[in-house]
This record gives sequence, C-alpha cells and structure tokens, in this order.
Amino acid sequence: MKPKTGKIYLVGVGVGDADHITVKAQKIVEAADVVFAMGFVRDRLAALLAGKDVYDAGHGYFTATPLNDAPEGEEDRYRKIVRDAVGESKTVAVLDFGDPSLFSPQRGYLTEFADLAPEVIPGLSSFNIANAALCGEITGGTGRAVVLAEAVSGREDLPDRLAKLAATGAMLAFFTMKMDLPMVTGELLKYLPAETPAVIVAHAGYGDKQTVLRATLGTLAERTVGVDLPWAHMLYVGGVASCVQ
Ligand SMILES: C[S@@+](CC[C@H](N)C(=O)[O-])C[C@H]1O[C@@H](n2cnc3c(N)ncnc32)[C@H](O)[C@@H]1O
Repeated sequence: MKPKTGKIYLVGVGVGDADHITVKAQKIVEAADVVFAMGFVRDRLAALLAGKDVYDAGHGYFTATPLNDAPEGEEDRYRKIVRDAVGESKTVAVLDFGDPSLFSPQRGYLTEFADLAPEVIPGLSSFNIANAALCGEITGGTGRAVVLAEAVSGREDLPDRLAKLAATGAMLAFFTMKMDLPMVTGELLKYLPAETPAVIVAHAGYGDKQTVLRATLGTLAERTVGVDLPWAHMLYVGGVASCVQ
C-alpha cells in the first residue's frame, strides 16, 4: 500500500446552496485532517465539517494587501499548524468559496506554502452560477467574448480600467466586492450606449433568495436606488440572448 504523505489543498467549494460543492471537493474535505474556512463557508458546510479540526481561514492571510485581516501572530501560528500537519502526513484543506482562481481571499496560502506543492481543486464560481441565472450563452454577444473583472471602489486606476474594458467590445462580468454602482455605470456610459443591457444577479445559487435585475446601462443606477444590494452580487454589462424576460 502507498504510504500516506502530507498534502495541502486549496479547495473551491462553490457558492450558493451547499450542494454546489463538487464531488471531488467533497471527498477531499471529508478526508481532510485539518480544515481552514471562513465563518460563512463553515456555516454553509456545517454538516460536512462536523467533528473536524476547523480554523478560521481569515481573509487575505499571507498576502501583503490591505485586505489581510490576520490578527498579530496568527499567521505564524497557522504556518506551524499547516507545516506540522503536513509533516505528520496529514491532509490540510483550505476552503475557498466559489473558485479559488478568481479573486480569491485565500490565494496567500498558495504562495506561503508553495514548497509543499499545494493543489488547487476547482469550484463553481459565482460567475458560473450567476451565468446559469442569466439563462443564455454569455459568449453569444457581438464581441463573442467575456471579460471577468473587479470594480472595487476607491481604486485610483478604476476609471482608466473601465475605459479599457469598455473598448474590448466583450460582455463584462464584474465581481463587485464593494463597488460604487453609479460611478461604474457613469464611467461606462462615456464609452457604451445607454441601451446596453446591464443585469445584476444577487445571491446567485441560493434557491430561496437568488434575484435577477435586468436593466440597461442608462437605467441601472436609478433602478437600484433604495435597493439594498448584497455584497454577493455580480454585474453583467453587454448583450446576451436570454430565456429570462
Ligand atoms: C472576493 S470575490 C470571490 C469570488 C469567488 N472566488 C468566486 O469564484 O465566486 C467576492 C465576489 O464574488 C461575487 N459573489 C460571491 N458570492 C456570490 C453570490 N452568491 N452571488 C453573486 N455574486 C457572488 C460578488 O461579486 C462578491 O463581491
């Protein structure tokens, strides 16, 4: 029998309802000895994680970004936990919501433990799940292309980046994080026609609360006045044939 060796995985567990986890990701989580997961990921997968050694994965740990929320000394403690576990031939699973290759708050684990040859397990991104809510071929617009982007407000280069994105002629799919929607639509309106379709998919993948708001670039800001948009929403700008009216 092959001896068990230690291993660290960065596991995408999907977004929305808990059953959006893949079979492969579920098997890895089930077999993991040590798990790191953010609070809401942990709550969502409570049944799967019951009885396991679970630590809060935090946000941006092992990165130099201002978004790193690790308390003093926490990263050192985690380094030791991970390295000891792998050294004892255990399996460590760092869980990430959605897909770990897209705007991941846990990407720092990959660089920090690069010498341990971490493996990334893909997950269903909010992009995939929101695409399904649009109910159409999102590469079907005139540009035959989709650009994935973020539009976090307050970044100095944002207007310039939006201008470049608009010039691509592609469908634009924004991971919104903390986005200033009127600012983003206002900038895009400098380059794109007001009748360009603009759609928000909120709470993608949650059977009980997913919503789709269809508007145009010219009307979206007004349509969302007074709407309490959750952090979990995607913005699509561009044409796509859809079964959703
Ligand atoms: C830091 S990014 C992480 C994305 C993640 N890696 C993924 O693949 O979905 C967070 C952004 O993903 C989007 N998002 C996450 N969950 C979502 C959901 N259930 N519905 C719509 N958008 C979601 C939002 O735009 C949110 O601001």
